[in-house]
Amino acid sequence: MADLSVDLGFRVLKSPLITASGTFGYGEEFLPFYDLDILGAIVMKGIFRDPRPGNPPPRLHETPAGLLNSIGLAGPGSAALQEIIRRLHARTAVPIIVNVCGEDDEEFAEVAALFSAMDEVAMLELNISCPNVRQGGACPAQDAGHTARLVRQVKDRVRKPLIVKLSPNAVDIVAVAQAAQDSGADALSLVNTFLGMAVDITTRRPVFANVYAGLSGPAIKPLALRLVREVCRRAYVPVIGMGGIASGHDVLEYFLVGAAAVQIGTINFREPAAALRITGEIEAEMERLKIKSLSEIRGQLQA
Ligand code: FUM
Repeated sequence: MADLSVDLGFRVLKSPLITASGTFGYGEEFLPFYDLDILGAIVMKGIFRDPRPGNPPPRLHETPAGLLNSIGLAGPGSAALQEIIRRLHARTAVPIIVNVCGEDDEEFAEVAALFSAMDEVAMLELNISCPNVRQGGACPAQDAGHTARLVRQVKDRVRKPLIVKLSPNAVDIVAVAQAAQDSGADALSLVNTFLGMAVDITTRRPVFANVYAGLSGPAIKPLALRLVREVCRRAYVPVIGMGGIASGHDVLEYFLVGAAAVQIGTINFREPAAALRITGEIEAEMERLKIKSLSEIRGQLQA
């Protein structure tokens, strides 16, 4: 029997599969599809202190091998999410990760402190990498100095493990990763979406009001895999890899380049029970490769 558990150092997860923020609602929506306890953890849609309407429609645009989104971090605000988390925790034992957002550094720290104080919350993921909030896609994760200041400020206010979610749109993601871990990040998750755009040729206008949007899905997997490898080569904290994962085979690729766990995102929209299928595929691949634990192949890429 394959052992799917993974050790992040600060916490053991029963599965390497974590559902990515923004692709899994607030967990409750997926309760009818499968037992969420099979997952390593779930990440909530990003949350600010106050409710946010997000960006005007359209917010989604399909591409031949991926999905462009410009949701703009719409959400019900922290008080409402606390209620949702209490309800969800009463129905499942899956570890809950809160994806923390902020208009400025102080709000990031305030929201992180609020959820850090909740017993029902296992970990925090600092979302410094959303490309859909400011025009041009700017975010703190594009700047190593800003990342360092922000992570330190948040870390001072929390007692739960802090995962910092990085952007593929940074000029030097390895420098940002180093800044995050040197400033106290307990783990890194990467990558968020790649900046992209679409054009309406009839109106001659960009499809999205914000002009640019974030691309995810199969199209980005080779790009994300390379960035995860680059960061893993320098990281001394665990790296949670993500980008286009849709099969057990994909998961093992991420482990070989050094990931300690993975997040599955866009596939959840097309196939709500994808994690169930991928779990079986990981077990089958492990049996085929005669591996008892994913730790046996983590970082074992021969290159
Ligand atoms: O637009 C959005 O809500 C996307 C969020 C993210 O990529 O973190």
